[in-house]
Amino acid sequence: MEVRLPKELIVKGRGEKLNRAFSNILDNAVKYNVDGGRVEVIGDQSGAGLTMKTTNTGPGVAEADIHKVFDQFYRVEESRSLRYGSSGLWLAIVKKIVALHGGKVNFERKPGSCTRATVSLPRQRETTSR
Ligand SMILES: Nc1ncnc2c1ncn2[C@@H]1O[C@H](COP(=O)(O)OP(=O)(O)OP(=O)(O)O)[C@@H](O)[C@H]1O
Ligand SMILES: [Mg+2]
Repeated sequence: MEVRLPKELIVKGRGEKLNRAFSNILDNAVKYNVDGGRVEVIGDQSGAGLTMKTTNTGPGVAEADIHKVFDQFYRVEESRSLRYGSSGLWLAIVKKIVALHGGKVNFERKPGSCTRATVSLPRQRETTSR
């Protein structure tokens, strides 16, 4: 795992919810990886907010299905999901949490059999509901 973060990453919001969102993204990057695979976490802070890119090796999600990852209960591999007792719920929740903070989450395939989840959060906006 390679983690590259600036000294400070500041965003105004609900710490516990953001913690859960980032935890799931990291959990996925490890869980859906290959043996001996890589995870790269790169954070970047600008005046407007922060961007967090989490990239992992692994077979990933077929291009045709990639838009489904934010659907509730969507899981690519039943066997693997069952092994980990996963529900296919968390990315749907992540999207909601990030949206409540005025941000965006993007999920994409990258060359070399990699998957990347990018979270962008503005610095200032507060959550609008629980
Ligand atoms: N980093 C990733 N690399 C490859 N596939 C991924 C990655 N993240 C998510 N996926 C695919 O998207 C599906 C949905 O992810 P999500 O986090 O919502 O559910 P989950 O990990 O199966 O269960 P849980 O709700 O416990 O997190 C996963 O089952 C997996 O098939
Ligand atoms: Mg998950």
